[in-house]
Amino acid sequence: MNSDFEAVVTLSKKKLANDPSTAVFQVKIKGHILKGFVVRRGAGFFAYQNLCSHLPVTLDLNDNSFFNHEKSHLQCQMHGAVYEMETGLCVAGPCEGARLKPLRIIEEKNQLIIYFPESLIREEVSGESK
Ligand code: FES
Repeated sequence: MNSDFEAVVTLSKKKLANDPSTAVFQVKIKGHILKGFVVRRGAGFFAYQNLCSHLPVTLDLNDNSFFNHEKSHLQCQMHGAVYEMETGLCVAGPCEGARLKPLRIIEEKNQLIIYFPESLIREEVSGESK
C-alpha cells in the first residue's frame, strides 16, 4: 500500500512493560497531527485515536494518564468518560454508548505496528467532524 493517506507507527513492546500500561504516539500528515495510543492489558494490545468521544480533546490531556483510579478502565481526564480498554466502548460519562476510534494493530516479535485508517486520516485532513 502506498498512499498520501497512509500513516504507520512502530512501537517497541518494551514501552508497555507494565500491565496495564499505555504508550502514546503521533504522526504528522499533510500538516495535521494525528494522535493515538496503545493500551496493554494482560497479553492484549489495543490501539485508538487519542480523541475523546465527548469533545475533541485527548483522553489524557497529553500527560499519558489514561486510567481510572482502579486501573480497570480508560478514563478521559476532562469530564471523566469511562471506556473499556478492549473495545473502546464508553460505559459511563457524558458520551456513554459512543466508542473511541480503533486503529489496526499488528504484533510482530517485540514490536507493535499501528495503522491509522485512511478514512480517519481523510476526515482529519479535510476537517470533517465525526
Ligand atoms: S472531553 Fe472527554 S469526557 Fe468530556
